[in-house]
Amino acid sequence: MDAHTLPALRPAPFPRRGTRPGRAEIHFHILPGVDDGPRDLDESIHLACLACLDGTVTVVATPHVRGDFVADVADLPDRVREVREALTEEGIELQVLLGAELGHDMVGLLDGAELELLAQGPPGARWLLLETPFTGIDWEFTAAARELREHGFSCVLAHPERAVGVLDDGCAAFAAEIAEGSVAQINAGSLDGRHGIDARRAGFALIERSPCVISSDAHGRRRVPSLSAGLRSAIAQGVRHDVAHRMVDDGPRALLRDGLKLPRAARAA
Ligand SMILES: [Fe+2]
Repeated sequence: MDAHTLPALRPAPFPRRGTRPGRAEIHFHILPGVDDGPRDLDESIHLACLACLDGTVTVVATPHVRGDFVADVADLPDRVREVREALTEEGIELQVLLGAELGHDMVGLLDGAELELLAQGPPGARWLLLETPFTGIDWEFTAAARELREHGFSCVLAHPERAVGVLDDGCAAFAAEIAEGSVAQINAGSLDGRHGIDARRAGFALIERSPCVISSDAHGRRRVPSLSAGLRSAIAQGVRHDVAHRMVDDGPRALLRDGLKLPRAARAA
């Protein structure tokens, strides 16, 4: 697979919405019929409309790439093009980039070109969204993250607050990943309790502990774009306004524009 066939999927500069630049969603299931996200194209278009109303101008399409959903990534560029064409036809101004929510079980099964196809950020600062297992951060997950770094990719950890035991031992497993240069992506729905009290508590604890970004992890009508709600939840819980805006607005944009560099030790290895 030749990743260089996708120059049009690189992010464009962020247009402004009102007084602020438009938002970016880095974790968003918008491709129809490939995973547990939207069931059909109409539902994808509905999600896109709601994202626009939430101030978003760019979403990264992040289908589950793991054994039980998308195991073959070769047709994902066509699926993204299908959504982009439908949005253009409907007059919806939303940029859709190709990405993935990568299951750690798939890391050893994809080659470098396939990983590159799913990564974000400019050359030299490429990163992948790695799904944190709900069962907890275990040695297999840690090994997969290390393998990605050996391939030259940094990791953005998808919803670590939803992992069982993430706060155990002073967040030791989570902290070890952050020390390796990973960034945490917290679900907006965790902050208002939609994922349960444990995820809410863990979400705010992780936000205190390390720089995070927030995404909707939208899945269709049952979980819709919610960056504004996430911002309100964070501020209502006492997170400083500038920190909350960095998590919702500046942080995700910076990840797409500037990428995420590996720590010096990992680059030298
Ligand atoms: Fe997801």
